[in-house]
Amino acid sequence: MKSIKVGLLGIGTVGSGTFNVLKRNREEIMRRAGRAIEITMVADLNTERARELTNGECEVVNDANLVINNPDIDIVIELIGGYGIAKDLVLKAIANGKHVVTANKALLALHGDAIFKAAQEKGVMVAFEAAVAGGIPIIKALREGLTANRIEWLAGIINGTTNFILSEMRDKGLDFDVVLQEAQRLGYAEADPTFDIEGIDAAHKVTLMAAIAFGIPVQFDKAYVEGITKLQGIDIQYAEQLGYRIKLLGIAKRMPNGIELRVHPTLIPAKRLIANVEGAMNAVMVQGDAVGPTLYYGKGAGAEPTASAVIADLVDITRLATADPEHRVPHLAFQPDAVHDTPILPMGEITTSYYLRIHVADEAGVLASITSILADAGISVGAMLQKEPVEGKPETDIIILTHQTLEKNIDAAIARIEALPTVRGKVVRIRSEELA
Ligand code: NDP
Ligand code: HSE
Repeated sequence: MKSIKVGLLGIGTVGSGTFNVLKRNREEIMRRAGRAIEITMVADLNTERARELTNGECEVVNDANLVINNPDIDIVIELIGGYGIAKDLVLKAIANGKHVVTANKALLALHGDAIFKAAQEKGVMVAFEAAVAGGIPIIKALREGLTANRIEWLAGIINGTTNFILSEMRDKGLDFDVVLQEAQRLGYAEADPTFDIEGIDAAHKVTLMAAIAFGIPVQFDKAYVEGITKLQGIDIQYAEQLGYRIKLLGIAKRMPNGIELRVHPTLIPAKRLIANVEGAMNAVMVQGDAVGPTLYYGKGAGAEPTASAVIADLVDITRLATADPEHRVPHLAFQPDAVHDTPILPMGEITTSYYLRIHVADEAGVLASITSILADAGISVGAMLQKEPVEGKPETDIIILTHQTLEKNIDAAIARIEALPTVRGKVVRIRSEELA
């Protein structure tokens, strides 16, 4: 049978990984796909480096339009990144009747609905396994493996760079900036690493997972996003003393009145498997009503782990290319006319537990005044830690873990606590999830 011809846009970290793995495992992949899959054309701005990487085995051009306009190309892989030129190229490739594979979560989280609509109208597939959690087949699991379930919630460590930073800082006591540079050197970080450390990349990914899990539109603009840049080492230490780890989690949760969609540093009980996911590894927990809790673990970034997901999509498309478009798995798991516009809840309406660090004057009655404010707001205390004051400094930290409450209740309580004359500065608040 005629081979499937692939055009690759961008041969950087993931593009070169894809080229190499496809070449190395060509025979095995052909036995699975039923026909050969070959990259016949590569577009990259740096054609010299691209020629070195491809070693004369395919045509190299510097204009991506030459690839998407080539009638011989069946599938276009977009590995440029961002939502500028990449968006134009993906939409043009679809208009030209090409199937598309992309790892570009930023593009899909912002423009996914328009791209999937265009693809559906044209009868082509847009596959994006690599866009979420690198090499972990989480899109496949959510879209197909768990299709019998009503998904209740999912929570994941879905940014390798930040998990790598948190692990290295905790285990080796290294500085934030040093570890970030190492993550960049290893190819984990985004072109603009603020996307990683400010939680934006994780929010792109959780937005896509929420759409697939709950049958809602892709709504990145409604996600709450908080990264790790304001996290302090002292809170990581106090959390450890209370039996918790702090991880940057992406959370999507179905509630009776809407959907929670949020990314923020989160305390997780240290005994949970997911709390022990270290380095650039990713893990996603999914709770389905029939299956119960499930956990998916693996490398979330890097050249070959991500290539593994890109090539899985190539094989899927190759197998399904001749199938009637009506009978393919829908891009976002639910049939396009069955997508519901369930509201995304504002942060004041989310329900979770909280870690509070309150810096206070070491005076009698301070603790009582704080706990009475929490009691007034109907917030119960789960655990507490009061540090010895430093010698010669009559101030100390009180750390409180609350039970679950609405965020607007804790906001109101924190405002009252900060107004107490014995409380010094701002209260540090970190959300906490039991993930039981
Ligand atoms: P890189 O920056 O390493 O690679 C991008 C490549 O695209 C570069 O070679 C760049 O060339 C080239 N390029 C830029 N503009 C054009 C253009 N107009 N036409 C053709 N080529 C162009 O990025 P990554 O491989 O790390 O990431 C690619 C995508 O995969 C991104 O969407 C990213 O979010 C996603 N991703 C990355 C992961 C990772 O671990 N790195 C994991 C999962 C997803 P030049 O260098 O000359 O500018
Ligand atoms: N920058 C991303 C991360 C790459 O660190 O997880 C994988 O999507």
